[in-house]
Amino acid sequence: MAPYRRITFLSFVIILILFYISSYTSGISRAYMKTVKEYFMFQESDVFDNLALVSTKTFDVDSFGAKGDGKKDDTKAFKNAWKEACSSKTAAVFHVAKNKKYLVAPIRFKGPCKASLTMQISGTVLASKQESKYKKDETHWLRVDEVENLVIEGGGVIDGNGDIWWSHSCKVDKKLPCKDAPTALTLYKCTSLTVNNLTIQNAQKMHVSFDHCENVQVSNIEVTAPEDSPNTDGIHVTHTQNITISDSVIGTGDDCISIVSGSKGVQAAGITCGPGHGISIGSLGSKNSEAHVSDVTVDGADITGTTNGVRIKTWRGGSGNASNIMFQNIIMKNVSNPIIIDQNYCDQDDACKEQDDAVEIINVTYQNISGTSADKEAVIFDCSKKHPCQGVVLKDINLTQVDDDDAKAICNNVELTYTKTVIPRCPKNIDQDQLAFEA
Ligand SMILES: *[C@@H]1O[C@H](CO)[C@@H](O)[C@H](O)[C@H]1NC(C)=O
Ligand SMILES: *[C@@H]1O[C@H](CO)[C@@H](O)[C@H](O)[C@H]1NC(C)=O
Ligand SMILES: *[C@@H]1O[C@H](CO)[C@@H](O)[C@H](O)[C@H]1NC(C)=O
Ligand SMILES: *[C@@H]1O[C@H](CO)[C@@H](O)[C@H](O)[C@H]1NC(C)=O
Ligand SMILES: *[C@@H]1O[C@H](CO)[C@@H](O)[C@H](O)[C@H]1NC(C)=O
Ligand SMILES: *[C@@H]1O[C@H](CO)[C@@H](O)[C@H](O)[C@H]1NC(C)=O
Ligand SMILES: *[C@@H]1O[C@H](CO)[C@@H](O)[C@H](O)[C@H]1NC(C)=O
Repeated sequence: MAPYRRITFLSFVIILILFYISSYTSGISRAYMKTVKEYFMFQESDVFDNLALVSTKTFDVDSFGAKGDGKKDDTKAFKNAWKEACSSKTAAVFHVAKNKKYLVAPIRFKGPCKASLTMQISGTVLASKQESKYKKDETHWLRVDEVENLVIEGGGVIDGNGDIWWSHSCKVDKKLPCKDAPTALTLYKCTSLTVNNLTIQNAQKMHVSFDHCENVQVSNIEVTAPEDSPNTDGIHVTHTQNITISDSVIGTGDDCISIVSGSKGVQAAGITCGPGHGISIGSLGSKNSEAHVSDVTVDGADITGTTNGVRIKTWRGGSGNASNIMFQNIIMKNVSNPIIIDQNYCDQDDACKEQDDAVEIINVTYQNISGTSADKEAVIFDCSKKHPCQGVVLKDINLTQVDDDDAKAICNNVELTYTKTVIPRCPKNIDQDQLAFEA
């Protein structure tokens, strides 16, 4: 631009901004502003974008050549649509149409993006079954990296097509070597993230993993996989701070929710869980590692037919601590170990050797938990001798066996307080280091 034109243009922009501010406060039609803006779209100026007058732009995978017939590989269209959406200077929607099925290989949706972004998934995104396509990275299928202010929603389905992976798992076929399988959806280093109104099913391994994320809201999620599918955790939380998971239904072959090291400020509410292995903190401290988990609340859960209810599990030989944990307002139905702390967790073929060190467990409250246990032992505290569980509170607990018999509690090395009704209680006069108080 010539200097003279530039000055004229700049003064016009200033007038426009002043006009925008005054019209915004006085409520003058924004449509008019939009027309003005569109007229000046021809000028190569970012000022207009910063005024955020333009409505959201939609990037539909179909316009990038996706077929959505469940047969053609639509990976390229997804990647191209993402590239454009992520570099849009105004709020963008990455759109996957309803009533269609998109077959895709592993994709990395890489940020940071220029503006806020919504992934509107209304159709089905189906994982490619060709194992060769997972050669480059065997542990992720859909992975979103370093995106801020992302919303994932749309009522659609993310389907990991996991059955070939399950049948190749060493947990299913003991003759096969153990190897990794992809997590269906990984959110890595995302901050201010919302995941709402989606179904995630039949993952190759875990369904959704929040890894190194901050400030996350998850709601109205349905996660399903067969009860016998191996390692198919529903929602996995690792190294993530401030995450709320609410009003969700999860039933898989492994933990409904698993919370592992580096996680702090985890809230789960309104969770329907089962089948599966229940809601778990851990496992922590494997291979003599240091682990830290704190400030976890599970408030309101219906847990049915699972192998555990609310569980904390740590390997021998670890260090660090899991502290300030609350499990409350939970109904158990035919659950094998409704309440369990297992500091001798060992998920391997060979026996785990004796080790004194342990991830410490401090301040765990169980409140208003009732229902039925599939096993005689409804409450198990199997804590470390050198590092007993501290500050464990049981309040308003009533668990009976599913066949109406009384249930039992097993208590090793735990410092306990009972408040109000607690059924069952630890046996008295046992020779372990057990300290129980009445409050
Ligand atoms: C989920 O998303 C679909 C499609 O956008 C919408 O029709 C439906 O009302 C949403 N459901 C909820 C519970 O928000
Ligand atoms: C998590 O939430 C707490 C309490 O609201 C806040 O103090 C903390 O800064 C948050 N952490 C992150 C990483 O945003
Ligand atoms: C628990 O671990 C934290 C580090 O995350 C540490 O600061 C704290 O001292 C530990 N608490 C106890 C009681 O060991
Ligand atoms: C106990 O938990 C159940 C199930 O979540 C809930 O319906 C009930 O209101 C809770 N009771 C109290 C006293 O909070
Ligand atoms: C409880 O679960 C077991 C399987 O763990 C099942 O065989 C049994 O029928 C269930 N009982 C009830 C009453 O649901
Ligand atoms: C455990 O609770 C006690 C009493 O509320 C508190 O003083 C202590 O700091 C807590 N410890 C941890 C590690 O949260
Ligand atoms: C505990 O639950 C059983 C079975 O639901 C019930 O019969 C019993 O009255 C309850 N006990 C208390 C003290 O609430």
